[in-house]
Amino acid sequence: MRNETIAIHAGYEPEATTHAVAVPIYQTAAYAFDSADHGAALFNLEAEGYRYSRIANPTSAVLEKRISELEGGVGALAVASGQAALHFAFVNVADHGGNIVSVPQLYGTTHTLLSHILPRQGITGRFAESDKPEAIERLIDENTRAVFAETIGNPAGNVCDIEALAKIAHARGVPLIVDNTVATPILLKPFDYGADIAVHSLTKFLGGHGTTLGGAIVDSGNFPWAKHADRFPGYNKPDASYHGLVYAERFGKTAYIERARSIYQRTMGSVLSPFNAFLLLQGIETVALRMERHCENARKVAEFLRADPRVAWVNYTGFPDSPYYSLVQRYLDGNASSLFTFGIKGGMEAGKSFYDALKLITRLVNIGDAKSLACHPASTTHRQMSAEQQRTAGVLPETIRLSIGIEHAADIIEDIDQALEKACPAARLQAAE
Ligand SMILES: Cc1ncc(COP(=O)(O)O)c(C=O)c1O
Repeated sequence: MRNETIAIHAGYEPEATTHAVAVPIYQTAAYAFDSADHGAALFNLEAEGYRYSRIANPTSAVLEKRISELEGGVGALAVASGQAALHFAFVNVADHGGNIVSVPQLYGTTHTLLSHILPRQGITGRFAESDKPEAIERLIDENTRAVFAETIGNPAGNVCDIEALAKIAHARGVPLIVDNTVATPILLKPFDYGADIAVHSLTKFLGGHGTTLGGAIVDSGNFPWAKHADRFPGYNKPDASYHGLVYAERFGKTAYIERARSIYQRTMGSVLSPFNAFLLLQGIETVALRMERHCENARKVAEFLRADPRVAWVNYTGFPDSPYYSLVQRYLDGNASSLFTFGIKGGMEAGKSFYDALKLITRLVNIGDAKSLACHPASTTHRQMSAEQQRTAGVLPETIRLSIGIEHAADIIEDIDQALEKACPAARLQAAE
């Protein structure tokens, strides 16, 4: 099946009792056992079924199947937020002493997780000086447990050379984990290029309405955990926390996602509520259509900005002079992201006045909503970074990040035009020149 169809149908058929066409919201904490033996079989992971909604829930299971099918994976785990998904994705490969090698252009909170929070648990985030495959390769050592990248970086809109990163990671015996939030599986399917694990914030384009937080981890089923037994003992030695289970042996291709569920989701419990799973499913039904409009509108806005004398620079990867243009052609079929940045003439002060003058475009820290959104990363999402870290992440003091929505493009452009005029009047600009 194709994206548009998977997004509407995958993972659910009208259920047997009521024949409900919409996915039912199973708002229940627990599930009755037929007998003591049935309960024991569920706990032994020998019988299919549900026991407690911290571990699995039928509404969330539909969401998991749908996302997994969109990505072409063997299984998914839905969790409460994108950050929870990233946390679980990392600790599911790295223990105390391990490191994760990452590109530097990351969403600010993920950068914080890798640079400050995981190191307190003995897991180090190692940031390459650029997203070039050679820069990543230099940092991999015997303690590396994964290579990590955002397929499209937030906020820089940079596109990673996934195939090259996967090759490097695999040659050193580690998986490539990617955050595919900004691209979504509609624009890019990372498993086709060798990525092993995809992580999502469902809060963004997949949900699409800015109503609901959620996250997911998807397993490609392709990483050979048993082949790298020394590096990944957690998959290859009996797990004392689950009566001696050996994940790679027991689950084979789904070892990663089963381990994420039965260790991290079970004991740490970042649970997505069934109601939120339902809302996210409503959003996903239209994601393919929305992505098309997001990309089309973004191109129109980027072209308007580039032609405007009040604008200093536009970092839009759909322009042939962007360093990422060829990767956009190769990985995104020419569909540059609707997330991009620009700077207004007049630096920080003019940038802030522009931001304050916006009327239709909402000032906030979110992306991927049906509504057009703007953010000033240096004072918000990337505030915890040093000036140097901000620069390598693609954030300058005047940077405005736009997430272009699916309104009429002319209305978005009119709003930007009036805000530019307030912040940097054309007459003032001419006088200065
Ligand atoms: C690329 C990316 N990954 C992960 C996250 C975190 O997602 P959530 O807000 O759902 O925790 C974000 C949030 O903006 C993001 O942009």
